[in-house]
Amino acid sequence: MTDSSAALTSAQLDAYWMPFTGNRQFKEDPRIITGADGMYYQDDRGRSIFDGLSGLWTCGFGHNVSAINQAIAEQAGRLDFSPTFQFGHPGAFKLAERITQFMPQGINRVFFCGSGSEAADTALKIARGYWRARGKASKTRLIGRAKGYHGVNFGGISVGGIGGNRASFGEGIASDHLRHTWLKENYFTPGMPAVGADLADDLLELITLHDASNIAAVIVEPLAGSSGVFPPPQGYLQRLRDICDRHDILLIFDEVITAFGRMGANTGAEAFGVKPDIINVAKQLTNGAMPMGAVVVDQRIYDCFMETGAPHYALEVPHGYTYSAHPLACAAGLASLEILEKEQMIERVKAIAPVFEQSIHQLANTPSVVDIRNYGLAGGITLAAYEGEPLRRPFEVAMSMWKKGFYVRYGGDTIQLGLPFIVEAPQIDSLMNALGESIGECA
Ligand SMILES: Cc1ncc(COP(=O)(O)O)c(C=O)c1O
Repeated sequence: MTDSSAALTSAQLDAYWMPFTGNRQFKEDPRIITGADGMYYQDDRGRSIFDGLSGLWTCGFGHNVSAINQAIAEQAGRLDFSPTFQFGHPGAFKLAERITQFMPQGINRVFFCGSGSEAADTALKIARGYWRARGKASKTRLIGRAKGYHGVNFGGISVGGIGGNRASFGEGIASDHLRHTWLKENYFTPGMPAVGADLADDLLELITLHDASNIAAVIVEPLAGSSGVFPPPQGYLQRLRDICDRHDILLIFDEVITAFGRMGANTGAEAFGVKPDIINVAKQLTNGAMPMGAVVVDQRIYDCFMETGAPHYALEVPHGYTYSAHPLACAAGLASLEILEKEQMIERVKAIAPVFEQSIHQLANTPSVVDIRNYGLAGGITLAAYEGEPLRRPFEVAMSMWKKGFYVRYGGDTIQLGLPFIVEAPQIDSLMNALGESIGECA
């Protein structure tokens, strides 16, 4: 049904400066979403559109999940907002403890924030603060990786490795980057590529350059998501872990996309069998229904902050956000994690992932497809660039898909897929057929 309240005036269209959007193109040809239920959006023309990215990697359980909606509504009626500086509300403690049940053993202290970007900057600050608390204040340098995405705040873009997100904003904070793990030898490999574990040795080079006594932490996404879905080469994360251990450097996994099911596991750490010191989460934590992020740290890091000898009333970390542990977000988080467990969402992802894998790789011979990657319910397709316009083809493909009734994300030279955990084979089939056609149209 068409939503008549969705009609927008040009003043309204003009007033909104949209994020990560070509505003001028959008406003010439608006794509207005007015509703969502299950795996489908409705637009202002009454069309039904399949959600091929689970929102923005957020809504694995689909949209309009009544248990989550109800939990938010009940919480709003009981306690809509509560200060979390020096005071607490029950939901924050309950959710913190619930989150730890999904984390690797020992990663069990939770610092809440409002988004994945805030989680990135929080984790980097915790890493530096940790070394200072341990009396090693020179350990400040931060290391990320090319093609890494850690949100858009200054810490996140500094360690992030997507040039376009950094180019306009001047100096960030001192950081270095490992090389990315996208290798020609691995093109079209289903799942984890075989080649590339040795790229972790880039960290050794940086240790030679700076000395470990000056390095605080390495931050990577276990599977790089936003730059185009790059699963880690076999053995790569373990090798990073080993080097960090040998040189006393913290390892942070940014699991904003990978935590809570998308990898067919509780976390990327679990899926890839490597335990970091800090795990960042967001997105699927509330099924996207409320903004929320969190940094989950190894208990020894928390304990270190508690044991500096400062008076008990003193702040151990002068950091936090007005919306840290917002009561409505905590209610949404508790309801979501309940669904993740009770409705066996991770089992569902595991069961359907091979169907997705087979289906996405059938696009391998489509003209302009350069590479295809996948893991769990995440997939990335790299497309050949038009001469001098590297970003245009994925944009055109995504627009063609929208017209056909499918929402997919495009970023850089890739199309990204993050299917809902509740997806079934027929929806995967129609999505891939449409995608094959759209890529063909833009060849
Ligand atoms: C790995 C990772 N970190 C951080 C972020 C930033 O999250 P947000 O957009 O909630 O700030 C994202 C968003 O896609 C992400 O994928």
